[in-house]
Amino acid sequence: MTDTTIQLVVNGTPVSQTAEPRTHLADFLREEMLLTGTHLGCEQGVCGACTVFVDGKPTRSCITLAAACRGAEIRSVEGFDDDPLMRALRVAFKKHHGLQCGFCTPGMLVTGYDIVRRLPNADAERIRKELSGNLCRCTGYAGIVAAITDVLENTPPLALVQPQAREQQPASLAAISLESAQNSPTAQTAKGDASTAIPDRQSLVGAPTLSRTLTFNTPADDIWSVLSNPEKIVSCIPGARLDSATQDGRLQGQCAVSMGPIKAAFVGTAKMDLKDAEKSGHVIGQGRDSLSRSQLDGMLDFHVTRAESGETILTLDMTYKLTGTLSQFSRPALVAEIADRILMQVASTVEARAQGKEPDAKAQASLNGLSLLTAAFRGWIRRVLWFR
Ligand code: FES
Ligand code: FES
Repeated sequence: MTDTTIQLVVNGTPVSQTAEPRTHLADFLREEMLLTGTHLGCEQGVCGACTVFVDGKPTRSCITLAAACRGAEIRSVEGFDDDPLMRALRVAFKKHHGLQCGFCTPGMLVTGYDIVRRLPNADAERIRKELSGNLCRCTGYAGIVAAITDVLENTPPLALVQPQAREQQPASLAAISLESAQNSPTAQTAKGDASTAIPDRQSLVGAPTLSRTLTFNTPADDIWSVLSNPEKIVSCIPGARLDSATQDGRLQGQCAVSMGPIKAAFVGTAKMDLKDAEKSGHVIGQGRDSLSRSQLDGMLDFHVTRAESGETILTLDMTYKLTGTLSQFSRPALVAEIADRILMQVASTVEARAQGKEPDAKAQASLNGLSLLTAAFRGWIRRVLWFR
């Protein structure tokens, strides 16, 4: 592959360097610039060890092409050497035992810096949510959260102004830009407005898809009676709640998701169209989690048929698009693993309801706790981080 020349600014120094077009920013920093403070863990955008600032925003450098950063300002952990806020964070991490092996620490410090600068009023719960994209195998997170809380509570406001910004503009202007970031339309959205619209089918073209086939030993008519009833089917989905359903198939509701330290509540709207004669349906909808500012657009086609063997076959074709903070968890392999675990439980609940039984209490409890999600997430992370 032909090398390309990339011009960008790294830690305040203009750089012009050749690299292959497919070189990601983390390799560019580590191998071309010898800035090995940026660590590589999963190389799939999940663990956050490689987080650096690109034009002032925390960015996963393992899934960012260096060539895509032409003209950008990159700040890796080495670029914060004399920064008073980063110094305060380093001291606090040491004081509160916010690191053990230190592998996650560069990414934690960069993310912590962003939290302190962007969310001066963040409490421990908010800090945990903001850190949900940075994984640590050692500390149990308590020391990291305590360190960031300490800096938020005890660092004078002037130290929170980014030095690079101060060099380019008067301190008063830098303070205003911090203020306006908190009052920006994006930040306002995070505070509340959870209204959503039905997405355009076109907007999902090219999004990841997932196809699955489930087999039931219950007659197709009975399975269909559950699938075609919004109240019944929503009650089979872990964490989901139906708030309203209209005659024309418009549904409103919410779905709580909990994966280890990550918690989100997607509030959304969907449109469900059913073809009873063919036992098939189509659902398209959108949900937003206002806290993480994440949005999920999705579409599902389902079809119930009877196999020659007498079993009932349900085919599912899903298309989904996750944007916002939680999009780092939408890696197809992770989504597939979680979806499969949920589907196993949903299928057993659907079958129980189709047979007029109450789902078994143990399965129901695990559905409510979403322990399956956690298990899937842990299993996947273990494979990615430990056994590669
Ligand atoms: S190495 Fe980039 S997110 Fe894990
Ligand atoms: S300190 Fe070891 S991974 Fe976080």
